[in-house]
This record gives sequence, structure tokens and C-alpha cells, in this order.
Amino acid sequence: MSIQKCQTIALPKVQDHRGDLTFMEDKNHVPFEIRRVYFLNNVPLGADRGEHAHKALHQLIVAISGSFYVDLDDGHHKKTVFLENSNAGLYLCPMIWRKIRCFSSGAICMVLASAHYDESDYYREYSQFIANLTGEKKVPGA
Ligand code: TYD
Repeated sequence: MSIQKCQTIALPKVQDHRGDLTFMEDKNHVPFEIRRVYFLNNVPLGADRGEHAHKALHQLIVAISGSFYVDLDDGHHKKTVFLENSNAGLYLCPMIWRKIRCFSSGAICMVLASAHYDESDYYREYSQFIANLTGEKKVPGA
């Protein structure tokens, strides 16, 4: 899976004098069926989240309040995305090592996910993630 697939997706915003309304629908804005929603809040200054990869899970990360950085690594290439806009979601395909860091005060990180929570879908060790990339980094005959 390539980091190039991990793009920011614009979300529709309806604005009127009462405030803003943002929505997202699977198939229309989210490129997978939404099976789970969770969010991170009360993240202490300097704390990092993530630091794992998923084997099969698709996710969309939205900074619904505040801001944070998301470091992405597909085992070959790395990039960092700054999320600070509640009208944009960062799509993460499977097999991407990610770290979420530098949460601003009061930041809320909402995550839409393609499956229910399943600990067996995680790589929590970076070395394990690298070892399970499709073939190319494996030593021939190993
Ligand atoms: P984890 O995915 O490691 O958090 P993060 O990557 O955001 O730092 O999850 C932290 C804990 O919460 C872990 O014990 C698993 C649990 N958890 C659930 O029970 N359900 C969920 O949907 C998620 C995302 C985590």
C-alpha cells in the first residue's frame, strides 16, 4: 500500500448565521463503509498517539477541533500532514505506520474506521510492520 493513497479529502460544509455544519457519508465522501467512529480528546501537551499500523483497516482522520500533525510511513516513503480544518479528512489505507503528535490545546481527533475494533489487526512494533510489507524488504530465502 502506498502513502500516495493517503490523501486529504474535502468535506462539505453548510454555513448559515447559526454556525457551520459539516457532514460525511460513506461512498460519497468517505472511501469505505463506516463501521466505527471514535475520537481522541484530552490529549496532554506533548503526548503522541498512534505509533502503529493496521493490516486491513481503512480510516479517515478529522481534526474536528484544534490541530495536530500526522506522520505517515509506508515502509518506503514518509510524509507529514497537518490537520487543522474540520472540513477535511485524511484518508489512511491499510499498512501505513502513523503517529499523531503536537496536539493543540483542546484538540479533538475524530476517526472513522472500516471495521470494529480488533487488536489482531494491529502491528504495534515497527519492526513487525516492516517485516510484513509485501515481500520487497524480505531477505530472499528467509
Ligand atoms: P490505540 O488504538 O492504541 O490508541 P491510539 O493509537 O489512538 O493511541 O487504543 C488505545 C486503547 O483503546 C487500546 O487499549 C485499545 C482501546 N480501543 C478500543 O477498545 N476500541 C477502539 O475502537 C480503539 C480505537 C481503541
